[in-house]
Amino acid sequence: MSRPRRGAALVTGGAIRLGRELALALARAGYDIALHYFSSEEEAEQTRREIEAFGVRCELFGFDLSDTPALPTWMAAVAVRMGNLEVLVNSASGYTQATIADTESDDFDQLFALNLKAPFFLIQAFARQVQRGNIINILDNKIAYNQFSYAAYLLSKKGLAELTRMAALEFAPAIRVNGIAPGVTLPAESRSADYLQWRIEAIPLQRKGEGDHIAQALLQLLANDFITGQILVVDGGEGIAHVGRNAGAYHPAKV
Ligand SMILES: NC(=O)c1ccc[n+]([C@@H]2O[C@H](COP(=O)([O-])OP(=O)(O)OC[C@H]3O[C@@H](n4cnc5c(N)ncnc54)[C@H](OP(=O)(O)O)[C@@H]3O)[C@@H](O)[C@H]2O)c1
Repeated sequence: MSRPRRGAALVTGGAIRLGRELALALARAGYDIALHYFSSEEEAEQTRREIEAFGVRCELFGFDLSDTPALPTWMAAVAVRMGNLEVLVNSASGYTQATIADTESDDFDQLFALNLKAPFFLIQAFARQVQRGNIINILDNKIAYNQFSYAAYLLSKKGLAELTRMAALEFAPAIRVNGIAPGVTLPAESRSADYLQWRIEAIPLQRKGEGDHIAQALLQLLANDFITGQILVVDGGEGIAHVGRNAGAYHPAKV
């Protein structure tokens, strides 16, 4: 069965892990892919090969998203090279554990540069490049909590949730802007089995999510052209059951 041909989607942080799954799902759905990476060049090449196997175009774009002044020029170059840009997925992100008391100023700046300032100026630059389109910001289900053990990270994601709603209003009707808030999906390699079990115990659907659950949410938000400014929480119900449970630091053994 032939897939519909679509325009191009820029996926930030698309070489590895969740960003990679989102890029592959978009390729499977017929989008050409502008695959952004920062340090994972080899993985980006591998992901490109897998994307091209779906019969769509894939171009690689290495870039440090914390270089804010260079963002507009970079986005313009992406748009010109792809020719048919219509989707922006802001998935690249920093993730640092530190309470408010322990957060260093430089770490705060780096997290905000990558998780909030970069999406802000990417949205602005995208809106200048396209006539119509879709933006999806990847958030975190913990935006509903106050988990102070990842203070600056979480605050940057809460900011990105607000930016999602503001941008949806500003750029309607030409551009829809939505967010996805994943729960535990691809835990960091440093996470122990104990930690994972502890999280799963608090998830009503009694399992962690898979990359495909997030990818399905992405395709659903793109398909429904009457949705904008919304945040789809994909977390097995964790957020409705235990808001507040994750507020503090985990047991020290559960990194
Ligand atoms: N994994 C989960 O279960 C989960 C749960 C909740 C929310 N999320 C959200 O989902 C998204 C993807 O999560 P993930 O766990 O797959 O991410 P991750 O493993 O932490 O990867 C981080 C990504 O950000 C990119 N990146 C880091 N520094 C960069 C910089 N200076 N400039 C440009 N890109 C940079 C990395 O690119 P390179 O590797 O090329 O350097 C990488 O693709 C994030 O927004 C995260 O907050 C994930």
